[in-house]
Amino acid sequence: MTAATGGPLVEARGLSRSYRLGESVVPAVRDVSLSIAPGEFVALRGPSGSGKTTLLNLLGLLDRPDEGTVRVEGRDGEALTEEERSDLRRDRFGFVFQTFNLIPVLSAEENVAYPMALAGASAARRQERARELLAAVGLSVKLAVRPDLLSGGQRQRVAIARALANAPSIVFADEPTANLDSHTAEEILDLMRRLNAERGVAFLFATHDALVVSRARRVVTLHDGAIASDAAS
Ligand SMILES: Nc1ncnc2c1ncn2[C@@H]1O[C@H](COP(=O)(O)OP(=O)(O)O)[C@@H](O)[C@H]1O
Ligand SMILES: [Mg+2]
Repeated sequence: MTAATGGPLVEARGLSRSYRLGESVVPAVRDVSLSIAPGEFVALRGPSGSGKTTLLNLLGLLDRPDEGTVRVEGRDGEALTEEERSDLRRDRFGFVFQTFNLIPVLSAEENVAYPMALAGASAARRQERARELLAAVGLSVKLAVRPDLLSGGQRQRVAIARALANAPSIVFADEPTANLDSHTAEEILDLMRRLNAERGVAFLFATHDALVVSRARRVVTLHDGAIASDAAS
C-alpha cells in the first residue's frame, strides 16, 4: 500500500478515550485532533498521567477510541476489522517501548528479522535486511548476541532496528529513553533523528524528558488528556 499523495499520514479527529475504574470513569484522552504528515519528527510531551500512552495506542491502532476517528493514509481505522488493523500495524507502523520488549531467547538479528517473518519475507531477505538495519543502528558486531547481554542503549537500538524492519511510514515510541541515562538517551534521539532524515520515516515519541523534547521539530503538549499546545520548535 502506498501513501495517498499529499495527505496526512495519520489523522485523528475528536478522539476521546476513558477507562472505567469500578464506579468511576477516568477520562484519559479528551477530544484530541492531531495530524501527522509523512516524514515528521514529533514529540508528545506531558506529565505522567496526561494521556500520552493512551493517545499513542489510539493513533497506532492498538486501541479503539470511545469517540472520534483515526485515519491512516486515508483509511478509516474504525471501519477496519481487528485483522485488518493488525495487518496495517505490521505493514505501516513500527513500535518502540520504554522497556525495549525484545524477545529474550532470540539474538539481535533474529529479533529484527521477526516482524519480517510475520510479513512473509524470505529467509534470505530477512537476514539481509536485519543485518542492514543493525548496521544502520551501529550494532553490526552484536548480530548473534541475545538482549540480556546488551546494554540498555544497545537494546533500544535493536528495538529501533526491529521497528524499521517492514519499512514503516511511522514509528510510535512510548518514552523510548526513560530507562536510559541522559548521555545514552541523547544518542538514541540522535539515532532516531538520523533515521528520520535518511529514510523519511516519521517518528512520534512520547516523553516527559526536556532533553528529548529539545530534539523534536514539533512538540505537541498534552494536559489532562487534551492538547494544550502544538507548535514547531
Ligand atoms: N488501563 C487503565 N485503566 C485505568 N486507568 C488508566 C489505564 N491506563 C491509563 N489510565 C489512566 O488514564 C490517564 C492517562 O494515562 P496514560 O495514557 O498512561 O498517561 P501517560 O502515558 O501520559 O502517563 C491516567 O489518569 C491513568 O491513570
Ligand atoms: Mg505513558
